[in-house]
Amino acid sequence: MARLGVNIDHVATIRQVRGGSEPDPVAAAAIAELAGADGITIHLREDRRHIQDRDLRILRQTVRTKLNLEMAATEEMVAIALAVKPEMCTLVPEKRQELTTEGGLDVRFHAQSLEKAISRLQDGGIAVSLFIDPDPDQVKTANRIGADYIEIHTGAFADAPDLKTEDGELIKIENGIRLASKLGLGVNAGHGLNYTNVKKVAALGGVEEFNIGHSIISRAVLVGLDRAVRDMVDLIKYA
Ligand code: PXP
Repeated sequence: MARLGVNIDHVATIRQVRGGSEPDPVAAAAIAELAGADGITIHLREDRRHIQDRDLRILRQTVRTKLNLEMAATEEMVAIALAVKPEMCTLVPEKRQELTTEGGLDVRFHAQSLEKAISRLQDGGIAVSLFIDPDPDQVKTANRIGADYIEIHTGAFADAPDLKTEDGELIKIENGIRLASKLGLGVNAGHGLNYTNVKKVAALGGVEEFNIGHSIISRAVLVGLDRAVRDMVDLIKYA
């Protein structure tokens, strides 16, 4: 059965809105693990818009499952990863203006610099995954430059405007999984997966780990709101 890595960036996003200390992604990670998450994923962005260096440092000490650090393959981030040593680094493209990661890495275009970053991270004992679109050339290049895993970008599938397009994207994902497995790469998948569409990808088989954030945190807000309001009503009532 595929494992679930819970991306807790959005918890940090809510905290950053007020610049205070809550909600703390460290507490969220512990709750996710207690609920059965197989791993915790965070993206330390260059602009530090949500996850902070402090979160990474503390999570390294508190996460009991597996810590997956999403990051751009920059000198700064490689140095941070080598100091903190998450179990896995997932290299992603990063643009300052984007709302979230848009599209997979172009590993063919950046092969040389990525190859260097991969081997430095691996020398530090960190497994490396490349976040790529399910494109055969990208998969083959990821393998050639020494990645341990690919994470298949499921965004085009998740955002498909109709069933026909969705089916086409699902076939690309399936072919990507099969090719990567044949080459000996581990396969993760993520981006835009939710409580409706995840089943179709999970049913393909061959994915080791799903990394899911937005839909889980969105659901947490709704299923947790009832309890949160009741707690506040009680506090005021019984003051
Ligand atoms: N995988 C990668 C590489 C990502 O960049 C993201 C978004 O941060 C995710 C998975 C999770 O995507 P979502 O929040 O849409 O579930």
